Amino acid sequence: MKTLLNDDEIAASLAERLDRVAARFAGQLKSDLTPVNALARHVERYRGKMLRPTLVIISGWAVREGEPADEAIDARLDTLAAVVEMIHMATLVHDDVLDEAEMRRGGQTVNSLKGNETAVMLGDFLIASAFHLCSSIGLPWLNGALGETTTQLCSGEILQLTHRGDLKLAQATYADIIRRKTGVLSGACCGLAARLAHADASTTTLLERYGEDLGMAFQIQDDILDLVGDERVVGKTLGIDLQKGKLTLPIVIHLSRATPSIREETVTAIADCDRATLLRLVAGTDSLVAARTEAMRFVESAKGNLTPIRESAAKRLLSSIADATVERSY
Ligand code: IPE
Ligand code: MG
Ligand code: MG
Repeated sequence: MKTLLNDDEIAASLAERLDRVAARFAGQLKSDLTPVNALARHVERYRGKMLRPTLVIISGWAVREGEPADEAIDARLDTLAAVVEMIHMATLVHDDVLDEAEMRRGGQTVNSLKGNETAVMLGDFLIASAFHLCSSIGLPWLNGALGETTTQLCSGEILQLTHRGDLKLAQATYADIIRRKTGVLSGACCGLAARLAHADASTTTLLERYGEDLGMAFQIQDDILDLVGDERVVGKTLGIDLQKGKLTLPIVIHLSRATPSIREETVTAIADCDRATLLRLVAGTDSLVAARTEAMRFVESAKGNLTPIRESAAKRLLSSIADATVERSY
């Protein structure tokens, strides 16, 4: 890699690397069975922002920019990128079962197309494939770290389920849920990529913290979009958090600020899944603004972790990815 990349060069390099990641992803899911291949092709069409693989590749660059190219390291990073995307995809396929969601990334969900039984098994197939692929890197510590990450992610989903319909959900518990279900995986993308690129311990920790903060901001924005987003733009079924009794940050803040009568109106709007009324009530306590401010706080914290890391085009890109996380409407 050259010392200083301009934006066009870095965009072209990233696209090339993500193509390699996609090929590795598809290669791992190839089966001798036609129905399995059909399902694998379906989830490949789910591919959206590729945020997690992007974090892996760019974190690797941030560590190695200016050093001689090393194909062995690049190959490991490409594999890790495919692994994290597969873990993410598995959890989405299962999450759509929990949510009874019909649309994901502009297409039909596996559960709506083939039923819950198939979606559950496909999620299992994906998670097993992810760890199978990871073991091909041949580093037991990496399998261990991703095992821990994935159990945290599932614990976050379980914690969220145990708080379904909990109108007294504390903001700290909400933060714990999203840190586990989203923050830990994006933190691992950056931290594990740094380790694979032979970063020193402090750079590894800083990148891991950057990824975790970015994941927090990303999930808060995801939750905001569930409330205010446009389904055609976001590309997935919205309003589900509400319908499933999953309290998101704007609602958690709103309930903590509301007077008893507004609270009562809010509870009714939640029970009726009345998004319009809820939006009006939430606006009355400025809670959407407060949730956005909280997301911004995580963006600033994510970027703050980058400060001690040496300057590079990759570092600047990580910083702009953090900004883009809360500016997105999809
Ligand atoms: C669950 O989060 C997905 C995981 C991080 C496991 P969400 O429930 O917010 O995801 P969407 O909104 O259905 O995509
Ligand atoms: Mg969901
Ligand atoms: Mg969501």
